[in-house]
Amino acid sequence: MEYRTLRNQNQIPAVGLGTWQVTDRAQMVDVIGSAYEAGYRLIDTAAAYSNEIALAKAIAAHEIPREELILSDKVWNTSRGYEAVQEACKKSLKKLKTEYLDCYLIHWPASMKLYPNWEEMNADTWRGMEALYQAGLVRNIGVCNFKVHHLEALKKTAEVMPLINQVELHPGMPQEELLSYCKAEGIALEASSPLGNGQILTHEVITEIAAAHQVTPAQICLRWALAKDAIVIPKSTNPVRIRANLDVFGFTLSEEEIRRIDAMPYCGGIGIDSDEVEEFG
Ligand code: A2P
Repeated sequence: MEYRTLRNQNQIPAVGLGTWQVTDRAQMVDVIGSAYEAGYRLIDTAAAYSNEIALAKAIAAHEIPREELILSDKVWNTSRGYEAVQEACKKSLKKLKTEYLDCYLIHWPASMKLYPNWEEMNADTWRGMEALYQAGLVRNIGVCNFKVHHLEALKKTAEVMPLINQVELHPGMPQEELLSYCKAEGIALEASSPLGNGQILTHEVITEIAAAHQVTPAQICLRWALAKDAIVIPKSTNPVRIRANLDVFGFTLSEEEIRRIDAMPYCGGIGIDSDEVEEFG
């Protein structure tokens, strides 16, 4: 396993497990069992995934010691603001049956289409995140789906800038500008949907490079994102794929292969633009 060292010197595994759409409790027990056995320690969830209770039950079912896990959770859009974000975090802690979160992230910036005061709203939610960090309830604070202008706006008032920014990043969506901004600012980029939600795995650039290395297309996508120093959190409910998605440290991509993948057009993924999205949830 590779680790990423955050700006506060805390370490996060470079590969974690995404749990979006895993809501069935029995399935969660199986998924967490397979992932833990395979060596996953970082588990990504969100209040909006409605699976925090299922995740806690799965962790308990496998008697996984809390200190071995890096639990990452997200506050939903309905809990923006200094007080509301702290309340939401405490509710999530209860659901997850834990005293602290390793990572807590703002799921979406306030939409500038809906809120003329989006900057102020994000700043206020962020003050609540900083309070959680200072109180020790959260070891690392961050955001999701923030673009450069959201981060620049936050900078005006933040005492501690986000340590992590989780965004859609995969072949076809290389996030070059954001990646270099985050590198310069010491913000770790975490790739949600690193497999483009499974839709990019048949693209010929990916399948050709996978054949050349005798690995799977998914492993190529993950290796490519890791080469950019991203943290990746592929989601799978299949034990074979869960194992394979972690087995990405035995090969490297050449500069030429990375350039070929960089040049791929958008060919699948989630595709939600945080400036365009009308509120949801
Ligand atoms: P499944 O859960 O059946 O494995 P992303 O993490 O980019 O959102 O992608 C998740 C999607 O990709 C899910 O539909 C998942 O399906 C699928 N997936 C995950 N790992 C692999 C893999 N190694 N090969 C093919 N599909 C995968």
